Amino acid sequence: MLTSKQCMELEATYGAKNYKPIPVVISKAEGAWVWDPEGKKYLDCLSAYSAVNQGHLHPRIVQAVKDQMDKVTLTSRAFYNDRLGAFLKKLCEVAGLEVALPMNTGAEAVETGLKIARRWGYQVKGVPSNQAEIITAKSNFHGRTSTIIGFSTDEGARKDFGPFMPGFLNIPFNDIQALEDAITPHTVAFLVEPIQGEAGVIIPDEGYLRKVREICSKHNVLLITDEIQTGFCRTGKMFCFMHDDIEPDILLVGKALSGGVFPVSAAITRKDIMDVITPGSHGSTFGGNPLACAAGEAALDVLIDEKLAERSAELGQYFLDEIKKIGSPLFKEVRGKGLFIAIQLTDEAGGARQYTEKLKELGILAKETHVHTIRLAPPLIIKKEEIDWALDILRDVFKA
Ligand SMILES: Cc1ncc(COP(=O)(O)O)c(C=O)c1O
Repeated sequence: MLTSKQCMELEATYGAKNYKPIPVVISKAEGAWVWDPEGKKYLDCLSAYSAVNQGHLHPRIVQAVKDQMDKVTLTSRAFYNDRLGAFLKKLCEVAGLEVALPMNTGAEAVETGLKIARRWGYQVKGVPSNQAEIITAKSNFHGRTSTIIGFSTDEGARKDFGPFMPGFLNIPFNDIQALEDAITPHTVAFLVEPIQGEAGVIIPDEGYLRKVREICSKHNVLLITDEIQTGFCRTGKMFCFMHDDIEPDILLVGKALSGGVFPVSAAITRKDIMDVITPGSHGSTFGGNPLACAAGEAALDVLIDEKLAERSAELGQYFLDEIKKIGSPLFKEVRGKGLFIAIQLTDEAGGARQYTEKLKELGILAKETHVHTIRLAPPLIIKKEEIDWALDILRDVFKA
């Protein structure tokens, strides 16, 4: 077996440098815990950016995948498979919407949502050809494709990758008036994360999404919520939009839809909107494959049967309150919803990276986002005792 040092050296030699990982190698995982090749144990407080909400290697998901492996893994959509229909039914019921289009990665789900919205704009709303506009929020994160980075405001993600796709416009997040002002007769959609995850768990004002819903309805503009990170119980509800008691027109999901087994994503919407997608207009070789459907169905069952939304709400509130009580002078703000928590450090703290590295030394894996913020998003199956264990370490690191 390779040592941690050997693994990191091999990656540094043969891999592109598109990430700057915390220097820890994970070779085994179970539930909320991961191990390095030397046998050191860590509490996972990132959950692969919320893809492992159900915990690592959830036995029901693993069993479903193993069972499916013995039958059929990939058919392509040239043929029907015996798993897709039942998976999509369950997904639509969970989302409270009518039809879904399965893809693989989150970015593909976003691309799918954008394509549906543009076609709907031309074919249903009557926007003149090639003039559709889509509004997005500043500091968004929706993925890494050429189209998506075109409407990112993160210079690091955009630099020297242009020219970019036209037809997108940024407005400030959490600003209702800016949305109202930006809408024109050519606007087909507003694409927004209900809580901005990669920006540092930025939570909008109470009722923001409800007001966004009203404005979109008033102007016949589709509301596309990207719940690839906030979805599947992370924020204390099955989907974050449910806190506002609204229904998006298009819902984008990914990550925890497979419980972290492999990429499974989807765009979910109503029939009247999805009808613009016709044979040949969109697809993916692996999208909707039987293995993905088996993982997806089991992943959804686990979220429901283990009441992970309620768990996330309860334990999240406890974790948040206890972190706030640490009251460190290094904290600028501690915020969160469910088990989606961010500690924003003061400028004087000197950057979050030194703290995430220190936490790693003490057995907690968390990742900084931007310079000053540490996100804490453990698997939702985490136990209260495990949170208490993490709190002791956080106290040690931030009281000092
Ligand atoms: C809100 C949001 N949308 C889209 C994506 C992209 O997902 P993927 O990395 O699977 O393409 C992410 C990933 O972090 C995300 O947080």
